[in-house]
Amino acid sequence: MKYYDKLIFELSRKGRKGWSLPENTWENTPEELPDTLKRCQDPRLPEVSEPDVVRHYVNLSNMNFGVDTGFYPLGSCTMKYNPKINEETSSHPGFTSLHPLQPASTVQGALRIYRELSGFLCSLTGMSAFTLNPFAGAHGELTGLMVMRQYHISRGDTRRTKVIVPDSAHGTNPASAAVCGLEVVEVKSTSQGVIDIEDLKPLLDDTVAGIMMTNPNTLGLFETEIHGIASAVHAAGGLLYYDGANMNALLGKVRPGDMGFDIMHLNLHKTFSTPHGGGGPGAGPVGVTAELAHLLPAPAVTAAPDGCCEVTGSPDSLGRISGFMGNFGVLVRAYTYILMLGKENIRKVGPYSVLAANYVKESLKDVYRLPVQSLCKHEFVFDGLADSGTGVTTLDIAKRLLDYGFHAPTIYFPLLFHQSIMIEPTETESKETLDAFIDAMRKIAAEAESDPELLKSAPHSTPVRRPDETLAATHPVLGYRFGEGTE
Ligand SMILES: Cc1ncc(COP(=O)(O)O)c(C=O)c1O
Repeated sequence: MKYYDKLIFELSRKGRKGWSLPENTWENTPEELPDTLKRCQDPRLPEVSEPDVVRHYVNLSNMNFGVDTGFYPLGSCTMKYNPKINEETSSHPGFTSLHPLQPASTVQGALRIYRELSGFLCSLTGMSAFTLNPFAGAHGELTGLMVMRQYHISRGDTRRTKVIVPDSAHGTNPASAAVCGLEVVEVKSTSQGVIDIEDLKPLLDDTVAGIMMTNPNTLGLFETEIHGIASAVHAAGGLLYYDGANMNALLGKVRPGDMGFDIMHLNLHKTFSTPHGGGGPGAGPVGVTAELAHLLPAPAVTAAPDGCCEVTGSPDSLGRISGFMGNFGVLVRAYTYILMLGKENIRKVGPYSVLAANYVKESLKDVYRLPVQSLCKHEFVFDGLADSGTGVTTLDIAKRLLDYGFHAPTIYFPLLFHQSIMIEPTETESKETLDAFIDAMRKIAAEAESDPELLKSAPHSTPVRRPDETLAATHPVLGYRFGEGTE
C-alpha cells in the first residue's frame, strides 16, 4: 500500500491544521445561540494539513474512472463525452446565484431557457408539450404514467389499470408502473429480439392503460412494426409510453411522436450530455401530445400576453412532482448542448452513434457470440465468448477490460441472455479509440483460450480488484469506523 492510499483519518495528527477560521468579531454570538444548539464535544474530523487534504482527494479521484479518463461503453447508459462548454454555461453566476423562490419578474432569463428548451425537445421528439420538472429517467417514467392514469380516470375509464411491458424492458419500467399503482403485464420478444405481435394482441383489452416501450429497444433493435403496434394499442383504448432515456440513435432523424407515442421521457443526463453516474444529477423531462398537455405537472412556464415568461399550472394538472422546477443546472447543460450542435449537427448524432455500434459489433462478432445478427442502432448485445468451452464468463471479460484501461460495458443485462455484454460506444469516440477497444476485446478472447486463469483473477492493475459484491450489497460499510487507526 502506498503511503497516500491511507484514509485521511489515518493521517490525522492531533493539533495539525490545514485551515484557520477568521477571528470571531461578533461578540454576542455565544449568548444568542440556544444551549441545545451548542456543541459539547469537538467535531470528530481528521486533523490534517492542506497538502494531506489535497493529496487525499486527488489520489481518490485518480482511482476513479470516468468518461473524461477513458472509453466508457456502458450499454443502456449513454456515457457520451460531455462538452466542457456545458460546465461553463451552467456554472455562470447568473444561474448559480438564483433562488427558486425569486419572483418571476427577476428570473426572466432562466424562465426563457426553460421555455425554449421545452420547445427544442418538442421539435426533436414530435411531442406537443414538455415538463422539465422530473429529476431522473425513472422519475419521468412515474410522472408520465401518472399522466396516463389520470387521462383514463378523467374519461371515467377507471378499469384501465394494466401496463404492458416487454420482457426486454429496462428494470425501471415495471418498477415505475408498480409505484404508480398499475399492474404490469409482460409481452414476449421474438427470437429476433423485437416485440412478438402475436403475444401482444390477446393482451389488449379494456383493462389496458397503455404499453411502455423503447425503440430502439434495449437490444439496440428498431421495432419496425411500431406503426402496427401503435394502431392496435390505440384501437384498444390504450396509450403508448416511450422510454427515451437513450435517444441517441434517433436524435435529429426519427421522432417518437411520429411513431405514434403519446407520452415519453428523455434522460437529459445521457442523450443531452450531463456527467452522470454515482447518483446524479439528472433530469427526466416528460413530453406529451396536445391532448394530454393540460395534465402535465405544475409549475409550468408559459408566455404572458406581454411576451414575458410566467410560472403557471393548468387547473387539471397533476400538481407538483418536484420541489421546484427540476434540476436547473442540467437543463442549462442540455440547452447549451443543443445550441452548440445546432440543427445540422444534431442530425449527425444518430447516424454516427449507429455507425460506431455497428463497427464494433462487426469487428468482434467472430470471437464473441452475437445472438441477434441484424443491423443494430446505437448499442448491441453479445452473449459471452463465441467459444463457450473456455469457462471464461462475462464477468471475467469485464474485469480484464479494466486492465486494458477501458470501463466495462453493461453486463448481465438485458436478461434475455445468460452472458449479456451490452456495448454502446456513442458518437463521440474516434475510430482510433474504437479500434483500441476492439483490439483489447480480441486480445481478451485470445487470452481466454491460452490463459483463462489470467482472466478469472483479473483485474490485476486496479486499486480495488474483485470486491465481494454480495457482501457489499448486504453489509455495506459506508463510513469510517472512528477510533480504528486514529491517534
Ligand atoms: C432505458 C432506460 N430507461 C430508464 C432509465 C432510468 O433512468 P434514471 O437512471 O435517470 O432513473 C435508464 C437508465 O439507465 C435506461 O437506460
